[in-house]
Amino acid sequence: MALLIKGGEIITADSRTRADIFIEHETITSIGLDFYPPPGTEIIDATGKLVFPGFIDPHVHIHLPFMATFAKDTHATASKAALIGGTTTFIEMCCPSRNEDALDGYNTWKQKAEGHSFCDYAFHMAVTRYDAATEAQLREIVRDGTTSFKVFLAYKNFFGVTDEELFNSLTLAAELGVITTAHCENAELIGQLQQALLAEGKTGPEWHEPSRPEAVEAEGTARFATFLEQTGATGYVVHLSCAPALRAAVEAKLRGVKLHIESVVPHFLLDKTYAEREGIEGMKHVMSPPLRDKRNQPALWSALQAGLIDTVGTDHCPFDLEQKLLGTNAFTQIPNGIPGIEDRVNLMYTYGVKRGVLDIHRFVDALSTRPAKLFGLFPRKGTIAVGADADLVVYDPEYRGTISVATQHTNNDYNGFDGFYIEGRPTHVTVRGKVQVRNGVFVGEPGRGHLIRREPQCNIGAHHAG
Ligand code: URP
Ligand code: ZN
Ligand code: ZN
Repeated sequence: MALLIKGGEIITADSRTRADIFIEHETITSIGLDFYPPPGTEIIDATGKLVFPGFIDPHVHIHLPFMATFAKDTHATASKAALIGGTTTFIEMCCPSRNEDALDGYNTWKQKAEGHSFCDYAFHMAVTRYDAATEAQLREIVRDGTTSFKVFLAYKNFFGVTDEELFNSLTLAAELGVITTAHCENAELIGQLQQALLAEGKTGPEWHEPSRPEAVEAEGTARFATFLEQTGATGYVVHLSCAPALRAAVEAKLRGVKLHIESVVPHFLLDKTYAEREGIEGMKHVMSPPLRDKRNQPALWSALQAGLIDTVGTDHCPFDLEQKLLGTNAFTQIPNGIPGIEDRVNLMYTYGVKRGVLDIHRFVDALSTRPAKLFGLFPRKGTIAVGADADLVVYDPEYRGTISVATQHTNNDYNGFDGFYIEGRPTHVTVRGKVQVRNGVFVGEPGRGHLIRREPQCNIGAHHAG
């Protein structure tokens, strides 16, 4: 059935137009005024609403075996939460551990998602070991359309790679033209600092941040940039949290390193005092890199507005309270992660756009267009244009509400943003032309979401700059 979204104000990364959008067979076929739609066309009245391209979350964890447990969401629960919040595509980290076979892991992740996601999705393939067999498998995974890698410089002996493996992964990535995303913290320093703190009897969640100080993240970021420079690969720092790491990344950008930056919602809005709360309240807010001193936030907001921070993701990673309590006797055992897939758009709209610190077009760019461009989804996704997938968000800027664990859709018993006031939310959300959220209520069709296969997006050909 055809769909007409009528009377809204279309906002993209670079334009603002009052026009109607006509959709047939999953794609946008016309944008204009005074349509006479064929009988049977479904009409959504968007008068007084904004119409955004479907938002893309470039960093989520759904199936995740990690820290002796598993993250809580399924692809059904996470994608439902995503859609309610206006996210129509997510990119999940496919993270087999170092002891697992990369291709087996990739197939497991694909099977977990297939037929269960309500929205579209893709994967970043984690390289957690590098040897000849893994290299052959990575080539096959890229041929299958998963054209971005993930490396961890933290989590030694589990997800973490050695410098030699990092070099080899980036060399392969440069040859294949795929972008490499990276968790940048110095694993060795973290291990040493953790042991020293525990030996002093410092076991509570408030010690998580001191065990991974800002300098440890800045070192990881600078090292990643150096390895990109020497291999000619293109990189993307995930969840950059603080001013020293930002300086290291921007310094690299300025000297021509092909490096992009993601920050995630918790680092813009929460700070380390949340993790310093007593017991389980603090544990809820343990993630890595940790929530930082609040003085870092103005730098993150202004770098985002300036486009130096390219994208905003969530690092959605839900562990419930029982799981968080695994770390009762040692902060090193608290499963790292905070959920957020449902709330990213509303929080960044409220605390960025409405507060006047983030231009509305940069908001669309950082949360949709630039993730689409960096990860090979554009122009199919990330914009509103004839020929693009009809992934659309009709957004009510007059809505007023409060984030609450009682009304959330993600499969978890807490919300790190519980009680945050929001000014705006999606009323209607479509995935390739099918309405999945209507009047703020989930009406999704199970299995609507597809794996989006992508082409390599970086310059092809290895190049050694050093
Ligand atoms: O604390 C976090 N970020 N948990 C998820 C794993 C990761 O490092 O992204
Ligand atoms: Zn990470
Ligand atoms: Zn993550």
